[in-house]
Amino acid sequence: MYSDKVMDHFKNPRNMGEIKDADGVGVVGNPTCGDVMNIYIKVKDDKLEDIKFKTFGCGAAVATSSMITELARGKTLEEAIEITRNDVADALEGLPPVKMHCSNLAADGLRAAIEDYRKKKGGEKDD
Ligand code: FES
Repeated sequence: MYSDKVMDHFKNPRNMGEIKDADGVGVVGNPTCGDVMNIYIKVKDDKLEDIKFKTFGCGAAVATSSMITELARGKTLEEAIEITRNDVADALEGLPPVKMHCSNLAADGLRAAIEDYRKKKGGEKDD
């Protein structure tokens, strides 16, 4: 029921961990299951220089957060904020319908981290 890609990212998550001096941190919870996701970003020249995640969630949440770190790394903030849960699911070659909500955590977490970074920068315009 899970694609090989999902299993791969679940068993060998990319970019798992924490960035101690992160420029932005996103913390989101999933109201459906109570799982929690933290996303840490480092930003340089308006690009995501580094991104890591910590997930207290199910296997699909681990796989989707691992995948979103790969999709987002090196992108501009504008590009990264456009990544949707469907992009993540597509990159993983699909998720079972009952697990689609898990990919919200990854997409929302990334967006929250970017918003946190922009807030910390304070007052500066988004673009
Ligand atoms: Fe909670 Fe998947 S069941 S994130």
